[in-house]
Formats: sequence, C-alpha cells, structure tokens
Amino acid sequence: MNDRRNATLIVVLVLTLWLLGVKTLLAILVSYRDYFPPDFTSDFLWGREPAFRGIYREAFYLHILSGPVALLLGSILISRSVRSRFPRLHRSLGRVQIAVILLGVAPSGLWMAGFAESGLVAGYGFGFLAVATGCCAAMGWRAAIARRFDDHRRWMTRCFILLCSALTLRWIGGLGTIFGVESPWAYPLAAWASWLIPLLGWELLVHCRNRRFERPVHTTI
Ligand code: HEM
Repeated sequence: MNDRRNATLIVVLVLTLWLLGVKTLLAILVSYRDYFPPDFTSDFLWGREPAFRGIYREAFYLHILSGPVALLLGSILISRSVRSRFPRLHRSLGRVQIAVILLGVAPSGLWMAGFAESGLVAGYGFGFLAVATGCCAAMGWRAAIARRFDDHRRWMTRCFILLCSALTLRWIGGLGTIFGVESPWAYPLAAWASWLIPLLGWELLVHCRNRRFERPVHTTI
C-alpha cells in the first residue's frame, strides 16, 4: 500500500515538474521577441549594448538557439519508454544532443559567463556550470561508445539536470519576487544554487537507493 502511494506521489511530482518546465520554457521562448532584433531596453539586454559589438553577440545567439534544443532533446532522450521502444531514434538524437551541447550550449554559456551582469560570483557559477555540462556530455558519449550503458545513463542524467538549471534559475527568481527578496546576493547565489542543489540532491538520492539495495536481508528462518 505504502509502495503504491509512493509511486503515485512520484508520478504527480514528475508531472508537476514537467508541466512547470514546459511553461517556463515557453516563457523563455516568448521573451525572444526582445532579441530578434535586439532590444537594449529589454530586461536581459539592458546595458549590454557595448558587449554586443564583440563575440558576445555570436555567443548569445548561439546560446539562445542551442539551449532550448538541448533541453527538448534531453527530455526526449531521458525517457525510458522512448529509449526502449525506439533505440535507433535514441542513438540519432543522442549524437545531435552531444554536438548541440559541446559545440553550442557549453562554449557559448562559458563565453557569456565572462560577462555575467551581476559580477564575478555569478560569472564563476555559470562558468563552472558550462564546464560541468560539457564534461558530463563528453563522459556520457565516451561511455556510450564503450558500451558502458550504466555509466552512460548516469552521466547523461547529470547532464540533463545541469541543462535544467536554465529552468530552476528562473524558478528561484520567481520565488525571490514572490517573497520580496531584493539582496544583491540573490542572483549570484541563484547562479550556483540552480545547478548545485539539483545535482547534489540527485547524487544523494542515488547514493541512498544504492545503499538500500546493498543492505543484507536478514531472515528469521
Ligand atoms: C547548462 C549550461 C548553461 C550555461 C552554462 C548557461 C549560461 C548562461 C549565461 C552565462 C547567461 C547570461 C547570464 C547573465 O549574463 O546574467 C545565459 C543566458 C541565457 N540562457 Fe543559458 N546557460 C545554460 C543553459 C541554458 C539552456 C538549457 C537554455 C534553454 C532555455 C538557456 C537559455 C538562456 C537564455 C534564453 C539566456 C538569455 C537570458 C534570458 O532571456 O533570460 N541556457 N546562460
């Protein structure tokens, strides 16, 4: 009975997060009307006109185009049922995903991190996030080629969690607005928390689950 209740709770939680994720991604895409052409009075581009004359401009457009693609591909690739029903589709989309991350999202995010609006702490947060995302994608790719599928799944799950930081960052921002947080530390902290907390949470969950299954079973017979 307890197991069934837990399973229902997990399904409800995953569905809620999924719906929230779709809504946030749509909101991000709607904000693109400020970027084509660039509107320097809009929220994100305000005050960024000088940086926009350099490589930043190319990195920015590469980033905002590759980011949603990586997020969408990630949500298809992570699905166990798609993976087992359409293994060839999983392989093809997986190759595209690795290219999108290693040639798009990660390098463009790393470049943009050097110009993060709220300073060095946020910049380092995004910089480490970019390196971690690229490393997880590369490790996942290597593991798939070597047919170490458990490792492959673990690295690519980490990679997806890191990609989802684009959504968690906005959720943290939304909560900050609701609770009236106006500290100058809020955004730099969110730049770290948006990926570190979900990643550490997942690692902890996997660790606890593995320990539960490793525990010897004591029988009275
Ligand atoms: C996981 C690796 C990622 C890194 C390292 C990264 C890094 C960054 C950085 C440094 C900025 C500029 C922040 C600032 O100057 O304050 C930015 C902005 C942005 N990122 Fe990412 N990002 C990543 C993933 C994504 C994903 C998956 C999406 C997909 C939706 C995305 C969409 C955007 C957009 C649309 C902006 C422009 C700001 C806005 O409209 O809110 N990013 N990102």
